[in-house]
Amino acid sequence: MPFEEQITHNYIIDYIRDTLKKSEGILAELEAYAHKNGVPIVQKEVASFLETVCRMRKPMRVLEIGTAIGYSAILMLSNMPEGASIVSIERDETMARLARENIERAGLTDRITVVEADAEAYLKELDGEFDMIFMDAAKSHYIYFLPECIRLLKSGGVLVSDNILYGGMVANRALLIRRKITIVKRLKKYIAALCEAPELKTSLLSIGDGVSLSYKL
Ligand SMILES: C[S@@+](CC[C@H](N)C(=O)[O-])C[C@H]1O[C@@H](n2cnc3c(N)ncnc32)[C@H](O)[C@@H]1O
Repeated sequence: MPFEEQITHNYIIDYIRDTLKKSEGILAELEAYAHKNGVPIVQKEVASFLETVCRMRKPMRVLEIGTAIGYSAILMLSNMPEGASIVSIERDETMARLARENIERAGLTDRITVVEADAEAYLKELDGEFDMIFMDAAKSHYIYFLPECIRLLKSGGVLVSDNILYGGMVANRALLIRRKITIVKRLKKYIAALCEAPELKTSLLSIGDGVSLSYKL
């Protein structure tokens, strides 16, 4: 059973995906490429959520952790104000190269910077303030990225994290796969930390594979 079907009903997922506007141009191409090659990109409903958040918050600087082929970076930038920019971190050399090629094809090279690095080390060195952070890398590392994300996020900024319900395993022990125990334990710690952090106000949403939206007070 696909992960998201353990979070909500099939008929809800189908309804939402059929109802949302179809992607066009390079985003449609990247969706097809990801599907064909098994590259994990945000699901349709999460993509739509990110677009709406970008339109509402109008972030000028976004930090993305986990670029893959550049799909979500291109999607977010396309919904951000003129002059806005994204820094996106990707540790896999092939993915970083593909992302740069796709970003160039989208004509966004001067606005999206792909940094090839492990986020854990890179975030510690990173300075400046971001209006929005999109967390979409190794799920077991979210908890280690969080203190740096809180430091880097502007007051009034938002942190969006994907896959937080992880196929429902975070909420239901009966779904737990043995080899995923560590990831699930760390995701639970991450969710608790998001909910308890005095600097954040967090919502947990059961769309896609689970998404959190945190606002920095
Ligand atoms: C789910 S994919 C990102 C998908 C992308 N955000 C999208 O929706 O188009 C996760 C990516 O994070 C990268 N990644 C995982 N752990 C990382 C880390 N510690 N530092 C940097 N990149 C990491 C993986 O190589 C992978 O390409």
